Amino acid sequence: MNLAVIGTGYVGLVSAACFAELGHTVYGVDIDQAKIDKLKRGESPIYEPGLEEIIKRGLENGRLSFTTDSTEVLPKVQILFCAVATPSGEGHKADLRAVFSVAETVAKHIDHDLVFVNKSTVPVGTGKQCEEKIKEILKNRNMTIKIPVVSNPEFLREGMAVSDTLMPDRIVIGINGNTWAQEMMEELYRPITRVGKPILFMSRESAEIVKYASNSFLATKISFINMMSELAEKTGADIRDVAQGMGMDDRIGPRFLHAGIGYGGSCFPKDVKALLATAKEYDLDFSIIQATDQVNHRQRHRFFQKIIDTVPTGSTVAIWGLAFKPKTDDMRDAPSLDLIPMLLEKGYTVKAYDPAAMENAKKVLPEQIQFAGSPLEAAKEADVLVILTEWDEFRGVNLAETQKLMKGDLLFDGRNIYDPKEAQEAGFVYMGIGIS
Ligand SMILES: NC(=O)c1ccc[n+]([C@@H]2O[C@H](COP(=O)([O-])OP(=O)(O)OC[C@H]3O[C@@H](n4cnc5c(N)ncnc54)[C@H](O)[C@@H]3O)[C@@H](O)[C@H]2O)c1
Repeated sequence: MNLAVIGTGYVGLVSAACFAELGHTVYGVDIDQAKIDKLKRGESPIYEPGLEEIIKRGLENGRLSFTTDSTEVLPKVQILFCAVATPSGEGHKADLRAVFSVAETVAKHIDHDLVFVNKSTVPVGTGKQCEEKIKEILKNRNMTIKIPVVSNPEFLREGMAVSDTLMPDRIVIGINGNTWAQEMMEELYRPITRVGKPILFMSRESAEIVKYASNSFLATKISFINMMSELAEKTGADIRDVAQGMGMDDRIGPRFLHAGIGYGGSCFPKDVKALLATAKEYDLDFSIIQATDQVNHRQRHRFFQKIIDTVPTGSTVAIWGLAFKPKTDDMRDAPSLDLIPMLLEKGYTVKAYDPAAMENAKKVLPEQIQFAGSPLEAAKEADVLVILTEWDEFRGVNLAETQKLMKGDLLFDGRNIYDPKEAQEAGFVYMGIGIS
């Protein structure tokens, strides 16, 4: 099939490259000229394991191409994916300007039937709004073509995006009664459903809610264990034992039950807040989700406060990990964005290292930060070591060697990646989360 993917960011680019990998012909479109230039050269503008390889393959076999001009590709495609960003807007509502702009461009230039698929995370009712906007423009153009709007929320995890897209747990499709659009979506996803992955058809409204409900549920699980970590710290318990004891219950499961400094990134914080904004619009009491958001904020700041209370100003703080999670260069809502400016403002010196996110970090963090070429270089002569991201690279370092390089002996492990006993034996005064 021939498709366009509008917006070649973390979601759109992975979707475009994976659809090409699955045999479709895909045109990736973005307004960012520099990004498109890079993509045309076969370079991935983002760090995502396995992505550059399939981009290169798609370019070579001719099934994948990139442009900044959506009107150039519209005549060639049967399905169009909208994968533009929907950041937090006024009152934490999702900012839908980019989505509506794509819908309007399509409606103004299309001259044949097309399935418009919304892959961006959008509040319930947005698909209907898009469809109405498109119909209005088509009516003014005296066009009788059909542009059904389908919801197809994305569940990929950054760092695992390629495998999540090629082998998803499920594909959710929201369609309000258009059999042609349903057939098109079935055909599009056949290479994935053929290997046994389920495709769920439901109403557009249900599909839109599935995305927010899933992210908010996972965020709630994280905030739940983080809340328990406060009790563990006060009572001499170890949150890792509590999580293990809970997680072995099949009804609970071990995933998303690791205490830490809370969730960040481009999705959970904004989607939790956007769901709360939707609930407010409908006058609903979403107190569970409200608490999820509050606990997350408190958890991050509790940890930062502990550092500030323990470490004298003027000290040198080594930070390992800047991205919001491992295996990505995404800095959106990363804890480092809160902690580092706070430390610099209070007169600490900050030396930081991240395996993939340093280029992006340089664009958004204050200039005074010193970037190191390795974890050990960051730790050298530092008074304190702080772990903010659980990269595998940090799990494997020799703690005794690290400690010897440092001036001080404090280790704040915001992700509980080290065994406290092992860290103490290596000479550190260890402070984790929920471990007293
Ligand atoms: N990042 C994730 O892990 C993830 C996972 C699931 C869902 N989502 C959702 O997917 C959507 C996209 O997220 P993302 O992380 O890929 O965002 P992103 O910021 O990485 O990418 C968005 C891209 O859209 C481009 N763009 C903006 N307006 C455009 C327009 N009018 N025409 C063409 N291109 C345009 C931008 O230049 C950018 O390259 C969001 O709604 C997000 O909530 C993200």
